[in-house]
Amino acid sequence: MGTGNKVRDKLDACLDRVLSLTKGQVSDPAQVRPRMGLVLGSGLGALADAVEDPLIVDYKDIEGFPVSTAPGHVGRFIFGRLEGIPLVLMQGRVHLYEGYDVTDCVLPIRLMGLLGIETLVLTNAAGACNPDFRVGDFCILRDHISSFVPSPLLGPNLEELGRRFPDMTRVYDEGLQDLMEEAGKEAGCRVHRGVYVQFTGPAYETPAEIRMARTLGADMVGMSTVIEATAANHMGLKTCGVSFASNMAAGLSGSPLTEEEVIEEGRRQALAFQAMIRFFIRKLPSQK
Ligand code: HPA
Repeated sequence: MGTGNKVRDKLDACLDRVLSLTKGQVSDPAQVRPRMGLVLGSGLGALADAVEDPLIVDYKDIEGFPVSTAPGHVGRFIFGRLEGIPLVLMQGRVHLYEGYDVTDCVLPIRLMGLLGIETLVLTNAAGACNPDFRVGDFCILRDHISSFVPSPLLGPNLEELGRRFPDMTRVYDEGLQDLMEEAGKEAGCRVHRGVYVQFTGPAYETPAEIRMARTLGADMVGMSTVIEATAANHMGLKTCGVSFASNMAAGLSGSPLTEEEVIEEGRRQALAFQAMIRFFIRKLPSQK
């Protein structure tokens, strides 16, 4: 028996499937009761190898679950522990530009919320439109702008998840921003705080669009995180966003943009990124 709401019914079916795929495979049930969710952006997937006692659920084994087709995205949940805390990693996400409905794009976020995570870390590779940033820098998100991207909350409100008109004053938790900034510095990364703007993609932006984004107050530009953070905020998840500058945005460097460069730069920074996330987890209050 469904609820009569297509989005909710699909979410429930995917949740049931994930629970049945994990049940019986673990000796310690805490392993599949994650306290934190971590979405790994393009080229940043290597952190998955560091997870202890990993239990893998491939997205393709979850009927109806959106499967990513983007380069650098594998497409699986990894349950396990990092720095002693039970978490779930998403190695691969889906994007609007792949043709998925916006509610499908945020289904994995909602699913992790229903699995009981308290903290969500969204990472992404993005273009830096702040000319003071450099390729390889990290930017902790303090706010975001949605540019021609539909809200994931359109349609009947899922009352059990959150309110019809959620406040968006603090989508990115300030305490988590502080912890991530400290963690980044300890890891030897160049870290900034800034505003992320999401465009639909898949084409990279034009230089004129980047000038517009800059005028609007954006520092980083990408194709994923605004809708995810909006869905997480709706559910009341404590969210932290980190963008990794895989390239300078269009028009800021002389060269054309390629996805190979985005992924390659992610790989180059993989160790620094891992160290930053590990330090961050160690700093989380009362997580053990
Ligand atoms: N623009 C949009 N998305 C991106 C970029 C960019 O320059 N780099 C990585 N993801």
